[in-house]
Amino acid sequence: FIYNYMKVGIIGSGGREHALCHALHRSKEIKEIYCFPGNAGTTKLAKNIKIDFNDFEKLKEFVINEKIDLILVGPEKPLVDGIVDFFEKSKIKIFGPNKIASQLEGSKIFTKKICEKYKIPTAKFGIFQSIEKANLFLNQNTFPIVVKADGLAAGKGVYICENKIEAENSIKEIFGGKFGLAKNILIEEFLEGEEMSYFIVSDGKTIKNFQTAQDHKRVLEGDKGKNTGGMGAYSPSRLINEDLEKKIMNKIILPTIKGLSDIGCKYKGFLYAGLMIVKNEPYLIEYNVRMGDPECQTILPKLKSDLLEIVIACCSENLSNIEINWFDKKSLCIVLCSRGYPDEYKKNVLINNIDRIELKENEYCYHAGTQKNENKIFSTGGRVLNFVCLSNNFKDCREKIINSIKSLDWKNGFFRKDIGYKVINE
Ligand code: AMP
Ligand code: GLY
Repeated sequence: FIYNYMKVGIIGSGGREHALCHALHRSKEIKEIYCFPGNAGTTKLAKNIKIDFNDFEKLKEFVINEKIDLILVGPEKPLVDGIVDFFEKSKIKIFGPNKIASQLEGSKIFTKKICEKYKIPTAKFGIFQSIEKANLFLNQNTFPIVVKADGLAAGKGVYICENKIEAENSIKEIFGGKFGLAKNILIEEFLEGEEMSYFIVSDGKTIKNFQTAQDHKRVLEGDKGKNTGGMGAYSPSRLINEDLEKKIMNKIILPTIKGLSDIGCKYKGFLYAGLMIVKNEPYLIEYNVRMGDPECQTILPKLKSDLLEIVIACCSENLSNIEINWFDKKSLCIVLCSRGYPDEYKKNVLINNIDRIELKENEYCYHAGTQKNENKIFSTGGRVLNFVCLSNNFKDCREKIINSIKSLDWKNGFFRKDIGYKVINE
């Protein structure tokens, strides 16, 4: 490799993108990083560029002018909208799945059809084109039942319904257009088990494991209250073992990749399988065609290998020739949020003591909803900072993180003190 020669662009502005930026920055081959648009945290490592990443033409103009060699995509929306196909048409290297492969996240029904054809274990389901047919189906089923909108819904298109009235209301909302025009609806069996996230990276030919995690989506301690983007996570999942990993690969991941390949499509990028584990058997709940947030922040500090090398290997279909090495540590992440999140919260609140955070070895602080203004840092989102710590045990990770958050003492913030409770014996 030639040192200091690559210019890389990262699309997105969250904690996941700051973690990607930080991991790339460690690479000897990096010359410059650009974030579209990034956050206050990425300003230390990269140039933040104020371009709306949904405007592919504008992005392309900038990428060509600045001679950016490679683009990484954080969030799902541009992937589902075909950003990879768009840049590849202009022979610009971009890491992520193309528009068809991104349907794994962009359409729950697309994924269910692959599951059906390739006998991938998943919740039993039905697809309906009208309110009447969907309601009729409810009569033959027991509760709880899960009602889902087909397309992207920013994590909000899933209803767990305890009774018929709730189910009918959710069907009405989805067909009423709450998540955009709905031609179809998905109704599925409720699976009882424990959730786990399984990650892989692929170049279209080779698949490599990219760790496991468990996240905490609910806003309140004890996994109660409203759903959020994620209040914290830990890695590895407590559920993973060799036998389970083989089942996940052979029953879920490989048949999915085969399903895509049968329609002439290769999967390049990160793939995140949201699984329900029932008695050491995996069931697919959903795919995401990207890293998770905050799972990415939790996992990347464990990566011993050079992230840029992995990404370049994927872009040149060379993943089989490199090894991905990891630190044998536990990792835990706690998200510091704006008071009120996931409902209304104040924006542009000064984070005054940010310099007080003293990060020791194996401690990281990734920004999410922050912005820098005249050398001061302000909160701009619901999830504001991600504190991550690596250690030999989860309890130690959590204690160190809570100390860091206390030293920051940000009056507008709140966080869950119980992240990882299932792996931490009090
Ligand atoms: P999704 O957006 O498909 O990941 O669904 C959001 C959340 O709803 C998941 O993380 C699960 O907690 C829950 N969920 C979705 N589908 C099911 C199911 N079939 N059975 C039980 N829980 C589910
Ligand atoms: N943490 C869940 C997600 O990234 O979708």
